[in-house]
Amino acid sequence: MVVQFMEFIESAPNQSLRALSDRVLRKCREVTGAEAGTVFMLRGQGRGRQLEAVSAQNDVIRAKPALFTVPVNQTSIVGYVAATGETLLLDDAYEIPEERPYRFNPAFDQRTGFRTRSIMAFALKGARGRPIGVVQLINRRPVPGEAGPPVFQPNHEQMIAPVNHIVGRALERAATLERLTERNRALTRERRRVAELQAETERAFMVSVNLLARAAEVHDEETGNHILRVNEYSYALAGWAGCSRAFCKEIRFSAALHDVGKMSVDQAVLHKKGRLDERELAEMQRHPIYGHDILIASDRLKMAADIALCHHEQWAGTGYPQGLKGEEIPLAARIVAIADCYDALRSARPYKPSFSHEKAVDILLNGDDRLDPKVHFDPRLLSLFASRHAEFDAIWVALKDQEKVEA
Ligand SMILES: [Fe+2]
Ligand SMILES: [Fe+2]
Repeated sequence: MVVQFMEFIESAPNQSLRALSDRVLRKCREVTGAEAGTVFMLRGQGRGRQLEAVSAQNDVIRAKPALFTVPVNQTSIVGYVAATGETLLLDDAYEIPEERPYRFNPAFDQRTGFRTRSIMAFALKGARGRPIGVVQLINRRPVPGEAGPPVFQPNHEQMIAPVNHIVGRALERAATLERLTERNRALTRERRRVAELQAETERAFMVSVNLLARAAEVHDEETGNHILRVNEYSYALAGWAGCSRAFCKEIRFSAALHDVGKMSVDQAVLHKKGRLDERELAEMQRHPIYGHDILIASDRLKMAADIALCHHEQWAGTGYPQGLKGEEIPLAARIVAIADCYDALRSARPYKPSFSHEKAVDILLNGDDRLDPKVHFDPRLLSLFASRHAEFDAIWVALKDQEKVEA
């Protein structure tokens, strides 16, 4: 007996609770000659404890048996067994003596026409001998040569007793495994949901950033794909400069926001044709501060705020608004200064045509009457640009605006 039970438990150590309890029930019925039976497992804690039917078999009723739960208290047969750990051998379910606390529930018989007679119900013991479930066997089959109606015998209990703890522990393990698996699944589902939410928030963030950058294109010099190209040049330059992946990712959307402050500049000044007077120039040159004040509201836009504030600073300390010098200027802003300048040279403006890549590179590296690269730009970044500028051209070509006019 012990060997037989051991064999099927160990033949598949990770079988599901359902599969294992089905096999346990079949084996118990085979050993005792029972027509029907149910395996219940204890679930829940304290007053909420319930017996949940995990396997039910019935050789007489053809319908698939419904699984159900029974509260753990002494008024039902299996509840009594779970609560006390006692084994019950009943000769007839309908003839339970009055003084017993438990009653037979005839609902199943009434529903199906089955007639429950003899019952054997015993607790399954888990680790430390505590009940973890109940096996209920119903209607012992007639045995040739045995006198009287067929009933379960004390020796049936003794046949199962030696293997009870092995079966009980295996079922307990299976139930624990199933709970853990279910919890894992729930965690995985939850993690996936959080990741989706995060991705959605990230998409919304990017949309907002791009909308903000677009909204800032109120002045006619820099429109179209300018902001997208500045993102890409800056991303490339940051990569060449050996910046971290996180830095590169951040500058790739932050660079586009360099001129958002222009939306706060006095519109009359912003759109004025012709030279600006001193007051107007001062107002125009406040756009880095305006931009910084808009962007500083979000931690995610810290780099963008730095870029907005410092993209007109110059390496020699001759820029605005703070006159920062050399490495006092945030690296991201030094990168965007070169990116922005290259794109301005390639673009047609009211006062200048669109320059070829070669001419733009020549001006950036060697200067002209408006631009002195030694004064304006970080020399290390400029030498990186000097050796890899073809990639800037590729970005220009890939993202150039439709109505562009070549010079
Ligand atoms: Fe600017
Ligand atoms: Fe720009």
